[in-house]
Amino acid sequence: MGSDHYFTAAPASAENLRTITVTLAGRELEVTTAGGVFSPDRLDAGTAVLFANMPPLPPSGDFLDLGSGWGPISITMALASPHATIWAVDVNERALDLVRRNAEALGLTNIRAVTPDAVPEDIVFRTIRSNPPIRVGKGVLHDMLQKWIPRLDERSDAYLVVQRNLGSDSLQRWMDATFDEGYSISRAATAKGFRVLKVRRHGNPPTEPIDLV
Ligand SMILES: C[S@@+](CC[C@H](N)C(=O)[O-])C[C@H]1O[C@@H](n2cnc3c(N)ncnc32)[C@H](O)[C@@H]1O
Repeated sequence: MGSDHYFTAAPASAENLRTITVTLAGRELEVTTAGGVFSPDRLDAGTAVLFANMPPLPPSGDFLDLGSGWGPISITMALASPHATIWAVDVNERALDLVRRNAEALGLTNIRAVTPDAVPEDIVFRTIRSNPPIRVGKGVLHDMLQKWIPRLDERSDAYLVVQRNLGSDSLQRWMDATFDEGYSISRAATAKGFRVLKVRRHGNPPTEPIDLV
């Protein structure tokens, strides 16, 4: 038996494609998943808690789904904000392949499923929504958040769902200490053993045009 985890780059286990029915953005949909990716048989309970406790999405802009898996968060965002561009980012090539397959089957042309280094450097995100990979270990998780959180646009929010018994409170404390100036970290919700953590990036409000008399 192999010891692949869902976060390896190219899982060696048999692909084992399957179709499941899920409700995303209020629509019952058939999607394709596979062995070797996260939660292939159902919508993950944490992801469901995130959906139930996040505010409406901005109407447009670039959005990040950090650690996309087969794509439930990306698909939800693409359906809810058809004028936005959704970056589905994962290190697992099979997961990215499933996101592309699902986007195509659902006629969603606004999802870009790519590895982390393929996101253009100049893009800033109007929102980040994520069920991040906790089991990769603190070092990798912290590196990931230090890479992506600073790419939030000014006056924009990230929502992350984390299981309480996998360290949501210590992650919140670490984020508070790490993203100090210009950010605030809070708990947006607690439900079913998960916390939804909110990261707000502050910024100056847009300047009003001055009327010259
Ligand atoms: C908890 S799963 C969530 C999957 C999906 N968003 C969902 O809600 O079902 C986290 C995902 O993060 C991915 N991942 C692990 N390390 C990563 C990294 N360094 N950068 C981006 N994604 C990563 C894993 O491959 C996995 O698909």
